[in-house]
Amino acid sequence: MALHTIAAHVRQLSRPLSVLRAATTMSTNHVLLLGGSGKVARLLTPMLLHQSWDVTSIIYNPDQIADLKQLGVNQNGKLNVLVRSLEDIKNETDAKRLIDEIKPSYVVWSAGAGGKGAPERTEAIDRDAAIHCIRASIASPYITKFVMISFNGCRYEKPPWIDETHWQEYLKVTRNHYQRYYEAKLPADEVLYVEGKKRKDFAGICLRPGRLSMEPVGKVSLGKFPRVEGYTSRASLAYTAALLLDSHNKNCWLDILDGDEDPEAAVKRCIEEEVDCAEGEYFY
Ligand SMILES: NC(=O)c1ccc[n+]([C@@H]2O[C@H](COP(=O)([O-])OP(=O)(O)OC[C@H]3O[C@@H](n4cnc5c(N)ncnc54)[C@H](OP(=O)(O)O)[C@@H]3O)[C@@H](O)[C@H]2O)c1
Repeated sequence: MALHTIAAHVRQLSRPLSVLRAATTMSTNHVLLLGGSGKVARLLTPMLLHQSWDVTSIIYNPDQIADLKQLGVNQNGKLNVLVRSLEDIKNETDAKRLIDEIKPSYVVWSAGAGGKGAPERTEAIDRDAAIHCIRASIASPYITKFVMISFNGCRYEKPPWIDETHWQEYLKVTRNHYQRYYEAKLPADEVLYVEGKKRKDFAGICLRPGRLSMEPVGKVSLGKFPRVEGYTSRASLAYTAALLLDSHNKNCWLDILDGDEDPEAAVKRCIEEEVDCAEGEYFY
């Protein structure tokens, strides 16, 4: 995405950014952002920097360095950009090496093969590298939160709060077209949930949008609601991820679509009500 497009989005975020700043404590967090040059990550980066958090962004195309570094200009936090390919993370030791080099407090996974290259690439990145990074993060006591960007239909079972007809229609028109992507993402979501629960001081948060759009930050449906088909604004997704990083401390899955609740209120409600969209799955 061109930098002026990102800048336009960030300009539209003045209200959310001031909320994030108000919510921030004095302690500085350091976020490792995997897939840092992606569209969601480029929206999330200035939000985190704005609240004086540091960000280390992992990208794999060196041509993107200069462009990406612009996101850190005149910001409160520091932006580091590191060139590494997630495809080179072949085991947990590789992931641990990367993590130990950076020593972040939080990790965000917003990477994905995005259908580019051979289908094996999706398995190598979205499944294998993601699982290695999740396991290595859980094995690193200084990391207390991992936010995974997944998608709302990424589950074994129909959610109990979704009507059967709507679910079947969704599978037919949406998920079945992305079968390989789904089969790669689901094991990673499961590992984050199951392994994340084993550490009491760790929150594995799986944020699960629908089809992504480039709309500005708007109202959302977050948690359990009777829809699975629909759009999610990337800016709302990034903003909600920033809010969750700042305030949520519990393992959970949270579905997110464009909706009618302010993101701040939606996050607060989901925390208070301990909403967890993993309900209905065998490991819940
Ligand atoms: N598209 C949708 O409608 C949709 C819906 C639900 C969920 N999602 C999920 O949401 C995530 C974020 O969405 P987005 O729109 O920000 O996607 P995006 O723009 O495609 O971002 C994904 C990022 O991952 C990076 N990446 C790919 N292979 C890599 C590697 N080997 N090493 C390091 N980085 C690598 C890509 O780098 P390059 O830019 O250099 O290719 C890209 O920057 C996606 O990855 C997807 O899993 C997407």
